Amino acid sequence: MTATTIASRGSGSSTSVFPDGFVWGAATAAYQIEGAAAEDGRGPSIWDTFSQVPGNVADGHTGDVACDHYHRYAEDVRLMAGLGLAAYRFSVAWPRILPTGAGRVNAAGLDFYDRLVDELLGHGITPYPTLYHWDLPQALEDAGGWAARDTAARFADFAAVVHDRLGDRVGTWTTLNEPWVAAFLGYCSGVHAPGRRDPAAAFRAAHHLLLGHGLAARALRAAGAAEVALTLNLSPVIQSGDGHEEAARVDALMNRQFLDPALRGRYPEEVLEIAARHGGLGHIRDGDLAVIHQPIDLLGINYYNPSFVSAAPGEPANPAFPGTEGIRFDPPTGPTTAMDWPIEPSGLETLLVRLSRDYPEVGLLVTENGAAFDDHLVDDIDGDAGGDVVKGTVHDDDRIGYLDGHLRAAHAAISAGADLRGYLVWSLLDNFEWAYGYHKRFGIVYIDFETQRRVPKDSALWYRDVIERNGLRSA
Ligand code: FCB
Repeated sequence: MTATTIASRGSGSSTSVFPDGFVWGAATAAYQIEGAAAEDGRGPSIWDTFSQVPGNVADGHTGDVACDHYHRYAEDVRLMAGLGLAAYRFSVAWPRILPTGAGRVNAAGLDFYDRLVDELLGHGITPYPTLYHWDLPQALEDAGGWAARDTAARFADFAAVVHDRLGDRVGTWTTLNEPWVAAFLGYCSGVHAPGRRDPAAAFRAAHHLLLGHGLAARALRAAGAAEVALTLNLSPVIQSGDGHEEAARVDALMNRQFLDPALRGRYPEEVLEIAARHGGLGHIRDGDLAVIHQPIDLLGINYYNPSFVSAAPGEPANPAFPGTEGIRFDPPTGPTTAMDWPIEPSGLETLLVRLSRDYPEVGLLVTENGAAFDDHLVDDIDGDAGGDVVKGTVHDDDRIGYLDGHLRAAHAAISAGADLRGYLVWSLLDNFEWAYGYHKRFGIVYIDFETQRRVPKDSALWYRDVIERNGLRSA
């Protein structure tokens, strides 16, 4: 595939055109949008438990109702179709399918995803399900969670159950979303469910997530899945002061701890050395890395920002990064989003080019990229309707700027040879942003959580335009 920059006839301006067949879409995750937490036999997940504990989530928000997508999925699919999306990435809630994580299958849970997939296909939208986006059944956490090896095997069983029902209509299957976050925010810093603060458990969780990926990939393949993918949160680590070795260590913990086992069949030495100091390596058994190293078709990349680090003797380890004693995570100096995350589109280009160079055998798909900003629903006079109709709009130029910059970076990476197959914006809808609750809005569609009204933001209309022309207008 090649990317081209063509001059549009007569105007003298140019358009960055993406390769033919480039996949445009949007992403969400079950717990963040579905609601219906106790309906139709769904069991509790670690996020239900965690969000009910005062202090864990801003203002005590939970995913009980969220965007009520469980009931409004048809309206949401119509919205997607209106924007021209070719692909929709969603996740399957494990506790809807297996309320206690294993054993009895809840048919009503499968029915929901069956309806959703049919609705998508009926609108010409390709479904991209992710099997694990952090909502572990609570019963499995009670049995040790991801720190327990058995969870990996249960995950592969779950994958097979879902494939059995949807495999005739779904081609691309993603096993995990962001195992680094699940392991290190869930089991080490404790800011995510299940809220544990145990570095040794986090390294075990990371390994068992990878093992679960490998076992599930094998099961999916055996069942006939056309494409298998793994999504990682990846962040180029930039050395902002002294500290070449320090930047390499953070890169190993954050990026290569997952890339190398999945795509090379080995852990980086730095990671083994740090894990050995935090509980030992007894959980890594002979043969595990061969299981983890399954051929995959696509690497899903969730990119939001680079990380800036420098050497700082005496600095304690970052709570989410055991082994980072003597390293400072530097605050951004440039513009940031409402999450205080730096806005650095060039990081995406750097990342995509690096991945294509270091792991050339796997296709790349941006499975998340986007930004939270302080959006306001405003009423405008609609000139097209005679100037007297008031309708809600959200003027989110900052989000358009963010997305535009990152798409230009993606285009540049393709021009430099990166095998990037598509781009899925995070997120279709404003939703439950984990520990931040509903305060951080990432959607290109605004949700009024009081009324559940959906209002496409300016960025949604802009994105519709990008999709339609398969490219960006000149800057
Ligand atoms: C990613 C998550 C996604 C969302 C975005 C903002 O880490 O995968 O669910 O929270 O960040």
